[in-house]
Amino acid sequence: MKKSILCIGAGYVGGPTMAVIASRCPQWNITVADISEARIAAWNSSDLPIYEPGLDEIVQKVRGKNLFFTTDIARGIRENDVIFVSVNTPTKTFGAGAGFAPDLQYWESTARAILEHAGNDKIVVEKSTLPVRTAEAMHRILDNNHKKLHFDVVSNPEFLAEGTAIRDLLDPDRVLIGTMPGPSGNRAGDLIASIYQNWIAPEKIKRTNVWSSELTKLAANALLAQRISSVNSLAALCEETGADIEEVAQAAGMDHRIGKAFLRAGVGFGGSCFRKDILHLVYLAEQCGLPEVATYWRGVVEINDYQQRRFVQRVMNALFHTLAGKRLAIFGFAFKADTGDTRESPAAAIAKMLLEEHAKLAIYDPKAMANARAELASYGDAVEFSNSAAEAARGAHAILILTEWAQFRDFDYAGFYQQMEKPAFLFDGRNLLDHQMLHKIGFTVCPVGRPTLSV
Ligand SMILES: NC(=O)c1ccc[n+]([C@@H]2O[C@H](COP(=O)([O-])OP(=O)(O)OC[C@H]3O[C@@H](n4cnc5c(N)ncnc54)[C@H](O)[C@@H]3O)[C@@H](O)[C@H]2O)c1
Repeated sequence: MKKSILCIGAGYVGGPTMAVIASRCPQWNITVADISEARIAAWNSSDLPIYEPGLDEIVQKVRGKNLFFTTDIARGIRENDVIFVSVNTPTKTFGAGAGFAPDLQYWESTARAILEHAGNDKIVVEKSTLPVRTAEAMHRILDNNHKKLHFDVVSNPEFLAEGTAIRDLLDPDRVLIGTMPGPSGNRAGDLIASIYQNWIAPEKIKRTNVWSSELTKLAANALLAQRISSVNSLAALCEETGADIEEVAQAAGMDHRIGKAFLRAGVGFGGSCFRKDILHLVYLAEQCGLPEVATYWRGVVEINDYQQRRFVQRVMNALFHTLAGKRLAIFGFAFKADTGDTRESPAAAIAKMLLEEHAKLAIYDPKAMANARAELASYGDAVEFSNSAAEAARGAHAILILTEWAQFRDFDYAGFYQQMEKPAFLFDGRNLLDHQMLHKIGFTVCPVGRPTLSV
């Protein structure tokens, strides 16, 4: 077998994952292919299509040596025996299961392209997040071919988190490889494991059956999102009772069975995965005749939506029950720090709710301005895209912190305060800043799940 890999899908997963494999496996030649010419052109330029700390350096080291980006998918399929598929798997927006079920059209069209162009046996690796039993369906599509070719389908879900993708790929908690029963499936799994063994300890490479592997990815995202919704539901209780969510979460998290991670209250989770993966889980549970299971997981998404509505209501209440014509400075539009990605960003949902109330928004984000512009294009003059936080704050009634960028801590809030309408409000949707210090400056400070510091 040639030591060469094709990855179909040059997105947030395909690009960084293959760049890291190329950097750790110089003996493997890696081609990343995509139908989007613009994306491939960006990967081949000095202005990569996505922002991830450390990504530029790695791509610069390996691009043109053993990492290549192309739109020639057919050739990639012909020339590579190992094919990773990391195309998008969004939620269906039409027909049966709309709003819940995964839209598998990109995935299936990839499977059919592989079938059309393959001239020899292949190992097809599911990198995309897929519903349980997709590998089996894929195996059936691929293996029923008149060319008498053999295909092994391996599930190898990706657990990277945007913002820390390179770190996660270089030092993952685990790599999961799920294979179909039988010697051929095992051999395929061994080969994929041998790639990761170039830099990951064998005990971190977990082998399972293909169905467990597919379900684990959905389960991991559901469990992470559930922690966020749990802590946010408690934050709502804190705001009513005078308890402080930071103290509650810290003290509860000291129990080793609970743990500290992922217990930060805020405006909720975002990103392209959590919501869709939970809804796919809900759909799966319904399909399996388990409505109670579906209701349980649906609640995680509902609390997340509620948290965002609640935040907007708090802004409304504090600003004397009307936002019409008021300038609000939005600090942060990305769904989390250290990324420019705004897919399912709480900031985007909150911004749209504020605009429905006829607020005027001034948005500043260190990396997400292009995506913010695209997301809010239809709102015209009601939105200003500011070149700096100071520019956004000038003349504003309130500052809203919606992404936890560390650099927001270092801003000159006293200077901002001077330039704002009075009374000046600061809504810290991420509990990121020093609230006492802001209060001393003169702000009325409204954190999440903590008492308001009124002036
Ligand atoms: N973004 C994350 O943090 C993350 C983390 C883990 C897993 N995942 C999963 O990985 C998968 C990919 O996610 P992403 O964020 O990289 O998506 P993305 O939208 O950034 O990238 C997908 C790419 O696939 C391309 N594509 C679609 N159909 C194609 C086809 N038929 N042939 C060639 N290219 C095609 C698109 O043009 C796009 O560039 C999803 O299933 C997602 O759930 C994402």
